[in-house]
Amino acid sequence: MGHRDKITVNTVHAMKARGEKIVMLTAYDYQTALLEDRAGVELILVGDSLGMVVLGYDNTLPVTLEEIIHHVKAVSRAHPRAMLIGDLPFMSYQASAEDAVRNAGRLLKEGRAEAVKLEGGKRMANVVRAIRAADIPVMAHIGLTPQSLHQMGGYHVQGKDPAAARELVEEAQLLEELGCFAVVLEGIPRALARKITAAVNIPTIGIGAGSDCDGQVLVINDLLGVMDDFTPKFVKRYAHIGQEITRAISDYVSDVKDGSFPDNEHSYS
Ligand code: KIV
Repeated sequence: MGHRDKITVNTVHAMKARGEKIVMLTAYDYQTALLEDRAGVELILVGDSLGMVVLGYDNTLPVTLEEIIHHVKAVSRAHPRAMLIGDLPFMSYQASAEDAVRNAGRLLKEGRAEAVKLEGGKRMANVVRAIRAADIPVMAHIGLTPQSLHQMGGYHVQGKDPAAARELVEEAQLLEELGCFAVVLEGIPRALARKITAAVNIPTIGIGAGSDCDGQVLVINDLLGVMDDFTPKFVKRYAHIGQEITRAISDYVSDVKDGSFPDNEHSYS
């Protein structure tokens, strides 16, 4: 595959078949999407994590479809080689299959996404079927599903007992049957993620699910260490950008205060 070949659903299926790991990362703006594409990310997700890391909400529930579309549009202007996936936010698909198709369609038509992601397994079967009938690629998301925060009673690892683990394997198989092109496995034991990955032909993309998934996803702000006051166990900080940003802004503040910026070099004569 040439470096600039566009990533599609066919590419990620071929990658699973070859045993090549798939790299997914969130992005919420144009410049970050350009940088991620340059670095070789294969799937860019405009996740509803947008609500927490960009918009300052306490959780993902308040995120609206309009907010996701606004950011998917920005990312799509980078024309990434990566496949662009838009997250369906809470209550944009749960109430009816008709809502779901219309809202998934808006992510493609207005946002220029190339696929949508939604949370839930068996209980979302009708919704997945309807969106797939409109020829919109669907990425599923099971295990710890943040939109079910209140039902789960917090962000807890899922699938720990044998019955719950069995159910997650069955859900992944059902989602494959329904035509999902991939499935995110979040917050489940590593051994269960390995079992699910072996049980389905579609790629599994893990977050807090160990290294045996077909690919991995992280929230870009977590990877960069924008706010590193709390680090969840599954997050690896590849930088401490927040500290660097604070240092740069503090230097600017003191330069302006003491009159050393702007100097002659940064002024017109
Ligand atoms: O919203 C999001 O960013 C996500 C990923 C973490 C999978 O759902």
